[in-house]
Amino acid sequence: MLSALTRAATAAVNRAVNPQPGHDLADLAGAVRGKNVLVTGASYGVGATTARLLARAGATVLLAARTEERLAEVADDITASGGAAYFYCANLADPVAAEALAGTILAEHGHVDIVVSNAGKSIRRSVDLQYDRFRDFERTIGVNYLGPVRMLLALLPSMRARGQGQIINVSTIGVRLTPAPRWGAYQASKSAFDTWLRSIAPEIAHDGVAVSTFYPSLIYTRMSAPTPIMRQLPGMSSAEAADIVGRAIVTRERAIGPWWLGPAEVGSVLLAGPVTWALGVLYRNTDDTPSANGEAANGASHANAER
Ligand SMILES: NC(=O)c1ccc[n+]([C@@H]2O[C@H](COP(=O)([O-])OP(=O)(O)OC[C@H]3O[C@@H](n4cnc5c(N)ncnc54)[C@H](OP(=O)(O)O)[C@@H]3O)[C@@H](O)[C@H]2O)c1
Repeated sequence: MLSALTRAATAAVNRAVNPQPGHDLADLAGAVRGKNVLVTGASYGVGATTARLLARAGATVLLAARTEERLAEVADDITASGGAAYFYCANLADPVAAEALAGTILAEHGHVDIVVSNAGKSIRRSVDLQYDRFRDFERTIGVNYLGPVRMLLALLPSMRARGQGQIINVSTIGVRLTPAPRWGAYQASKSAFDTWLRSIAPEIAHDGVAVSTFYPSLIYTRMSAPTPIMRQLPGMSSAEAADIVGRAIVTRERAIGPWWLGPAEVGSVLLAGPVTWALGVLYRNTDDTPSANGEAANGASHANAER
């Protein structure tokens, strides 16, 4: 009884704090049927769920990530249920591989209508644990910024020449708020891509290519799993996040995030001093997780995984 009440209360809180899809599968089908949709980071989490959703709505989904067996599993599931899926193994932290991925896809499919730039690497670690870990910064800037930029530089000319297209960036609320301690490498790299994409948006809009950015808070995936506190906080499932990507495709909105993000963004500017002070207090009263200390490397993104 108590656990049912707790579940209901959690669901109500999550509904109240997260953005809602506001469209159905028919709307999505109208927007993606017969289109080539590239989803990066489609082996796990939000990307895998988004690929399945878009394929169900009639898109030809092009899946990219590094883990071949996971990509094959997602693609096989899609084709077994009558959908169209192709998968490509690529390390997006390597700009050369990112450009090659775009070239292969254009050679095999002619064009890409929609890009869901979702692949990401998150690291939560204090800077004093990073003095000999410059690779934390290289890995995050690679997959969260340089790789996607290189890929889009190769895809944009044909999208613009065709006069249509859409890029959806799965960003994070963090890029719009006062930067939080321990998240420096992640937030800097996500902010770089967010800024670049928003900067080129007016340039490419003229050629019919829209940019939509989804600013999620917490999503319960393997990325957030290694940080125990995350499991106690309000968040959304991969399926709910995929629905928001679907909403972005249907509505072509410039930005989608929780309703409270705008006020919080204004507050983090107007109250920058007190907010920074409070974040310092929070930092001093919390610890790095065992995974950030390298004690539980498990392949997950907040952990000390080397991938
Ligand atoms: N989870 C959250 O709480 C949260 C909150 C805000 C924003 N986000 C954003 O949501 C997006 C999806 O994250 P998620 O929660 O679904 O995490 P996830 O389950 O860890 O999935 C991340 C995906 O990115 C791929 N990826 C990572 N590094 C890559 C690389 N070097 N090259 C190619 N692909 C790579 C992974 O595939 P391989 O390992 O197979 O390469 C995987 O498919 C990310 O952009 C993240 O920043 C997540």
